[in-house]
Amino acid sequence: MTGQAEQSLLLDHVDMRMVAADTLDPAADRNAIVQLDPDHPGFRDAEYRARRNRIARIALEHQPGTPIPHAPYTDEEHEVWRLVREALEPAHGRHACAEYLECVEKLELPRDRIPQLRELSEKVQSISGFRLEPVAGLVEPRVFLESLAGGVFLSTQYIRHHSTPFYTPEPDVVHEILGHAVTLGGERFAELNRLVGEAVKRTKSAEALERLSRVYWFTIEFGVLRERGEIKAYGTGLLSSAGELEVLGQAELRPLDLEAASRQEYDPTNYQPVLYCADSFKAMFETLRDFLLRWER
Ligand SMILES: [Fe+2]
Repeated sequence: MTGQAEQSLLLDHVDMRMVAADTLDPAADRNAIVQLDPDHPGFRDAEYRARRNRIARIALEHQPGTPIPHAPYTDEEHEVWRLVREALEPAHGRHACAEYLECVEKLELPRDRIPQLRELSEKVQSISGFRLEPVAGLVEPRVFLESLAGGVFLSTQYIRHHSTPFYTPEPDVVHEILGHAVTLGGERFAELNRLVGEAVKRTKSAEALERLSRVYWFTIEFGVLRERGEIKAYGTGLLSSAGELEVLGQAELRPLDLEAASRQEYDPTNYQPVLYCADSFKAMFETLRDFLLRWER
């Protein structure tokens, strides 16, 4: 694992989708939906790029609320999933909060193959009412966050390139599933996600949306809390990166102050040097819930 390994999971939907939109050039190749940067690990792999386009097309042609077509994963890609799970399981044992561990057990995710979004969406929906909908990756932050209000999580369906199982420059199905889908299978996490969506819907200005996106980043994506005197992760970005979980102790921990978090800059391309830590799961839940309920009222 290199120093860059696992930065993947530092990357957040909000930021990356904004970057991706900038790099999309529909005129470059009329058949290519997905444009990879030259330094993307899959850039020189024509089969990978073709598969990425097929998967993006599934999302573009998908009618919300209908069954999600299966993505065409290869054996190499299933192996990536297996490797990542193998690395994450012990890391979760040490660093994941109890609520997450309960959620992950309930979903009974396969170890040796990437679960299809359709099966996962059905499971999550039966627990919390949240469903997953596929997206090609290019979604405005407001669209992504507002969809949470209606119990919909917009999820990418592709997986990182098999040459770099512990690194991806964009959020992929590993992050979506092992981070978001797992937590959305918990009722309290699902409620917080819905409240984020509702708060975004009330948000008028770009500046306020930016602040709320930071709150999302420092809680839903990178939140930590105390459990029996230990620091545990509940943020999906942390929980889908074994590398970052192992260096949790190196971050500067600040008390969970969401007003301060809403004004705190962050860099999505590196391990987070600053994390906001709640005194317990209950404290996190109540602080975030109350903040979101009061937002723009
Ligand atoms: Fe995320």
